[in-house]
Amino acid sequence: MSQLWLKTWKSLLIEWCWPPVVLTSTPCLQVLLPAAGLLQLQDVKKTCCEFLESQLHPVNCLGIRAFADMHACTDLLNKANTYAEQHFADVVLSEEFLNLGIEQVCSLISSDKLTISSEEKVFEAVIAWVNHDKDVRQEFMARLMEHVRLPLLPREYLVQRVEEEALVKNSSACKDYLIEAMKYHLLPTEQRILMKSVRTRLRTPMNLPKLMVVVGGQAPKAIRSVECYDFKEERWHQVAELPSRRCRAGMVYMAGLVFAVGGFNGSLRVRTVDSYDPVKDQWTSVANMRDRRSTLGAAVLNGLLYAVGGFDGSTGLSSVEAYNIKSNEWFHVAPMNTRRSSVGVGVVGGLLYAVGGYDGASRQCLSTVECYNATTNEWTYTAEMSTRRSGAGVGVLNNLLYAVGGHDGPLVRKSVEVYDPTANTWRQVADMNMCRRNAGVCAVNGLLYVVGGDDGSCNLASVEYYNPTTDKWTVVSSCMSTGRSYAGVTVIDKPL
Ligand SMILES: *[C@@H]1O[C@H](CO)[C@@H](O)[C@H](O)[C@H]1NC(C)=O
Ligand SMILES: *[C@@H]1O[C@H](CO)[C@@H](O)[C@H](O)[C@H]1NC(C)=O
Ligand SMILES: *[C@@H]1O[C@H](CO)[C@@H](O)[C@H](O)[C@H]1NC(C)=O
Repeated sequence: MSQLWLKTWKSLLIEWCWPPVVLTSTPCLQVLLPAAGLLQLQDVKKTCCEFLESQLHPVNCLGIRAFADMHACTDLLNKANTYAEQHFADVVLSEEFLNLGIEQVCSLISSDKLTISSEEKVFEAVIAWVNHDKDVRQEFMARLMEHVRLPLLPREYLVQRVEEEALVKNSSACKDYLIEAMKYHLLPTEQRILMKSVRTRLRTPMNLPKLMVVVGGQAPKAIRSVECYDFKEERWHQVAELPSRRCRAGMVYMAGLVFAVGGFNGSLRVRTVDSYDPVKDQWTSVANMRDRRSTLGAAVLNGLLYAVGGFDGSTGLSSVEAYNIKSNEWFHVAPMNTRRSSVGVGVVGGLLYAVGGYDGASRQCLSTVECYNATTNEWTYTAEMSTRRSGAGVGVLNNLLYAVGGHDGPLVRKSVEVYDPTANTWRQVADMNMCRRNAGVCAVNGLLYVVGGDDGSCNLASVEYYNPTTDKWTVVSSCMSTGRSYAGVTVIDKPL
């Protein structure tokens, strides 16, 4: 087959099939691919498949998957299937999903590889699919619910949503699944493991590629440099620098943007906030906070960005403010019970935790922890850590809150402890390889990474990660270009 031929086919395909390729609306492919198969035009078939692969989208991936299956395009079938699993939350909103048959829905939702923020997505998808043709489909409720991992849902959701759902109430088999989930929540952790149900197994998605972004920091003064670690390629690269020097800032990833909040510019604690767009590789400024803060904690809760505590140049702060990205405005919320500079924060189970820090008044590093409920706008103390930690790295992995390193006076720690909110207890896990304070922490692909920091005398360029399954820390072979402490660290989706 000449190259010219192929080129012509391809341009025809693109012309006929644009815009979005939904197979039912593109008879050209319905005809072309089978014809190519019959005529043994392997190159045409390959071109069709490659074209369809490049067109994968949440609205068409299920159709393309069925089409690939029918025409024995194994590679395309696998690609479309993986795509549907990775974009499950968007795919279930499509017409194609609502029109799937029962077998196909069961096959999709039983996959261990679904990428979902919570099992809620699967439950809601089932309810939406059944309601699309309720009279016919409600008899399938039990068959579908067999694949919804109810035990993995929070209790509140089970009680307030699942139990209240008419489709569940009407099926005794569904109620049995609900009882199984309730039982799971009532059992102590040791005994949960003994429940040998497929529904208590965590899904293990093939994750979309991620990058770790390390922003500013001190090396030894405040710097502008920003570097990214590519987990797949296992290497670092530089991206656009901060508009101005910044260390001791708060860092989050929200709505596809990285926010660098407050911090220290080498001479002043600042109120300014910069946001980074990874697609454009570009920084812009957004609204200033109300207070100057360095060594603050920053986290996202219910779509708002919170800036917690910190140091304004003279005192430690108990004040907390929140940023609404839509209105580009900051507003104060209830202050913490304690002033906390060098505080670490994390969100688990819909609550924002502020961990340790330094209160300035008693001149003590803190072991206390408090959590914020946005509904009641209140801070409440929870169980204390086993030890005082200021400048600890705080991160969340598998619904547990980790406090990594930090210091108590001149003593820099390598110890790590983890908080289980359902039990309200802290327990010790394996030590890091190095003592670190003022390091950055983030969780990705089931591992907890700790980046840089200082050991009491030097800024560190090394990175290590914790694997909760093996209870081991491993040093990453590739270091940052420079040692930095007080850098901001977050994980983002790799731009295409
Ligand atoms: C309960 O299910 C039965 C059969 O599956 C159906 O006939 C009936 O309408 C359902 N009731 C409600 C309230 O959905
Ligand atoms: C720090 O910020 C202040 C106030 O915005 C500014 O006047 C000063 O020039 C900045 N210093 C550096 C080193 O960028
Ligand atoms: C916040 O407090 C309210 C009222 O006590 C409670 O109903 C809700 O479950 C709490 N939120 C979380 C996430 O625990």
